[in-house]
Amino acid sequence: MEATDIVEVIGDFVQLKKRGANYVGLSPFANERTPSFTVSPVKGIFKDFSTGKGGSAVTFLMELEKFTYPEALRWLAKKYSIEIEETVESPEHREADNHRESLMIVTGYAAKFFHESLLDTEEGKNIGLSYFKERGFSKDTITKFELGYSPDQWEAFTGQAIKDGYQEQFIVESGLSVKRDNGSLYDRYRGRVMFPIHSFSGRVIAFGGRTLKNDKNVPKYVNSPESEIYHKSSVLYGLYFAKKAIREEDNCYLVEGYADVISVHQAGIENVVASSGTSLTVEQIRLMGRLTKNITILYDGDAAGIKASLRGLDLILEEGLNVKVVLFPDGHDPDSYVRKVGTSAFKKYIEDTKKDFILYKTDLLLKDAGNDPIKKAEVIREIVESVAKIPDSIKASVFIQECSYILKIDERALLSELNKIRASKAKKDSQQSSSSYSNHSKPAEPPVEINWDEPAEKQEKDEANQEKEVIRLLLMYGNRMIDWDGIANTYIGPFMIAELSDVEFDHPTSKVFIEIYQKEVENGVLPDEQLFIHYPDKDIVDLTVNLISTKYTLSENWYEMHRILVNDEQVNMKATILGAIFHLKQNKVGKILQNLRKELQKTDVEADQEILLSQYIHMKKVEKTISDYLGSVILK
Ligand code: UTP
Ligand code: MN
Repeated sequence: MEATDIVEVIGDFVQLKKRGANYVGLSPFANERTPSFTVSPVKGIFKDFSTGKGGSAVTFLMELEKFTYPEALRWLAKKYSIEIEETVESPEHREADNHRESLMIVTGYAAKFFHESLLDTEEGKNIGLSYFKERGFSKDTITKFELGYSPDQWEAFTGQAIKDGYQEQFIVESGLSVKRDNGSLYDRYRGRVMFPIHSFSGRVIAFGGRTLKNDKNVPKYVNSPESEIYHKSSVLYGLYFAKKAIREEDNCYLVEGYADVISVHQAGIENVVASSGTSLTVEQIRLMGRLTKNITILYDGDAAGIKASLRGLDLILEEGLNVKVVLFPDGHDPDSYVRKVGTSAFKKYIEDTKKDFILYKTDLLLKDAGNDPIKKAEVIREIVESVAKIPDSIKASVFIQECSYILKIDERALLSELNKIRASKAKKDSQQSSSSYSNHSKPAEPPVEINWDEPAEKQEKDEANQEKEVIRLLLMYGNRMIDWDGIANTYIGPFMIAELSDVEFDHPTSKVFIEIYQKEVENGVLPDEQLFIHYPDKDIVDLTVNLISTKYTLSENWYEMHRILVNDEQVNMKATILGAIFHLKQNKVGKILQNLRKELQKTDVEADQEILLSQYIHMKKVEKTISDYLGSVILK
């Protein structure tokens, strides 16, 4: 954290200009023309006023690169050449790491070998390169995707790799070469054009090799086998090249083949990935879900394939993503269609024909069922089952409305079916979680009903804000001293914590914040804002940065604005602090009183009523004391 210069780190991604004490630039999280993205080197924070995001250099990397916390730290360590020792590293770990690293190294070497033989050998140029050119792939595209060619010989690659010192074990495990019974090796991808498959961070981990023959007995693609570095089910082809655009566009196009990814990408639509022929897995869906909640599936119009994939799509709904489907006309796939009509017509076609997955599925199944009432009932159940997978109740009820229209079925009938499925699912979930103590199962969804709840009560909002105000004061002044009622040199933070000991914070992040502060104080430490800015918990960082950065405090005339603000507060520091604490207490007491009133109404048992009543009277007194106190503090 100390070595990190936030301006330097963010400067790797955003063009920053110095303005006053700060730096400004265009937000990397939004499309904007006037820079609202501010970096404060003094505080070590950034604040993006157009999206509200803010935090430390670590949070920035987590937001932009979708790193986990440890990944962000590793990235920084690498940038500043700091070696980090990972505590979990045992000899076995180290060995496994070395093993994976060896596989990656030989795979990277192979990518280079295939790429060079495509561009620099006669055979590669005549066969591989001319094939790619014929398909319309440009030189830049070929370079970017590191496309290659594997010579049509038994040992061209194997021989070279051994000669260059690569170990047989890794050459075979990575699937580049195959071992014969007699122990000798031969090239797996002879005479094929090569599509390297990249990991999320851009290293080559596998290959797909396409034959150039038109022979039905030859498999069209030969792919790398599973290995320690390649788990097919959790890889999406093209993701490394697409991730930035997926985030920017807040949408991910999902296609079927390598060629589709490359053509669509080359046409300037870069937010595209492929599931590479397999049916979609949950891991792949989560991978996309880290970047966007919107998936648009681009299929060729062949109905058999579509039906097979319907199952996979329910998985996407379960993950809470929005799925749209686009079909291409007469045997076209995304690759052939984009080449035929060009980028803008391609985009327009997608916009015009994309259909929500559930509606699309409804249409498709309905066509199948025809007029058969039993089949139709079947369809209805299946659709409602899909809808039941949507975690968001409001979204689910909208789909129910639309499906009721398409299916010509009363909406209430669909809703009751939906609630039945949900109820049985909820029951199963709760049984599961109570028997296995698992906290992974999703909380049961409440039944969907169309019900316009009143907006959150004002009291709750006030309370959340009052909690935040207390935290803001802790952050700004907690480690300062003031003279308090004649006692000189009292630290504000510990004083506030002591005053708050009987207050239960409601907002989850605020609650955690106070707990951290309290623990530090108990350990004799006065936490400052830097501790919270660099805290591993993102919610804490967000809360902190939001409280200490306003457009004014970070703006050019930061000093003046700040001084005025601070002055005002400091003139009457005591009133500021006690006011914040006691307003919060007042609100909490109000809530307790309200609950007591409710319980009083509910119970008929006299003894209970008596207890409740005495509690009520007591709290009423507390309320009076607080408001008297507030009156005197504020008036002073
Ligand atoms: P396609 O047959 O649509 O391939 O299979 P494609 O990429 O569009 O290739 P072209 O346009 O004919 O050159 C879709 C995907 O299914 C996987 C590959 O990942 C392919 O990109 N596949 C297909 C295999 O793994 N093996 C096969 O034999 C065929
Ligand atoms: Mn194709």
